[in-house]
Amino acid sequence: MKTTSNFVEMKKKEEKVTMMTAYDYPTAKFAEDAGIDMLLVGDSLGMVVLGYDSTVLVTMDDMIHHGKATRRGAPNTFLVVDMPFGTYHGSLDQSLANAVKIMQQTGAQAVKVEGADDVLLVIEKLTSAGIPVVAHLGLTPQSAGVLGGYKVQGKTAEAAEKLIEDAKKCEQAGACAIVLECIPHQLTAKISEALIIPTIGIGAGVTADGQVLVFHDLVKYGKHHIPKFVKEFANVGEPITAGIQQYVEEVKSGVFPALEHSFTMKEEQLNQLYG
Ligand code: KIV
Ligand code: NA
Repeated sequence: MKTTSNFVEMKKKEEKVTMMTAYDYPTAKFAEDAGIDMLLVGDSLGMVVLGYDSTVLVTMDDMIHHGKATRRGAPNTFLVVDMPFGTYHGSLDQSLANAVKIMQQTGAQAVKVEGADDVLLVIEKLTSAGIPVVAHLGLTPQSAGVLGGYKVQGKTAEAAEKLIEDAKKCEQAGACAIVLECIPHQLTAKISEALIIPTIGIGAGVTADGQVLVFHDLVKYGKHHIPKFVKEFANVGEPITAGIQQYVEEVKSGVFPALEHSFTMKEEQLNQLYG
């Protein structure tokens, strides 16, 4: 399994870090077999798996339940679990207790938290307790209500300056990597140059040290909205739809199950049956 220092080494050697989300056993297994560097049990879970319209409704129990399943499918991949909405903005002790619970119950290697400002103290607290922390800046979906929706961040010089400073502060606070979401690629370049730890972009251009995508977006699995920055690497929704439609038709018409999908009793046993 790779470690946080391996990721810093990869950045030094200009080797990109690959990350994707997973929320269950089969997906995690596919990802590990494909050689993904890092898996994220994202709270995007709320939207792509649980059918909520934001990440706000996702709970600690949800993250732990799916974190455990993901761990079982990818026992040898660096696993990051999102701390869900509202679980790291109370006291530092409460934030630490929540992070410890996630680490101990899921077997994750790191947790991820969104934002800088007050969250810098959380990054420091968790890191000094031995918990690797991935930061997350730019578009931070847990604050979408405050940001006024899901919009590109850091487009003005002033906003960009603040993001660069925040990223540096996250690194100083001890973050082992930073996810940068929905920011201009030129800003991603500036932030990546300013840091020793790797930046992992999503909608942040090729200038990030690594990339992360939501599994359900990259293989087009589901009926949810897919953002502009996603490339469709597969479209599994089509064969799934076609397969289910054919199943329904064949059951209705009696084509399925055929004899080859059925169990057969020996003729002599059948003859001894009454009725
Ligand atoms: O929850 C999630 O999937 C994430 C990624 C978009 C980075 O936080
Ligand atoms: Na998330």
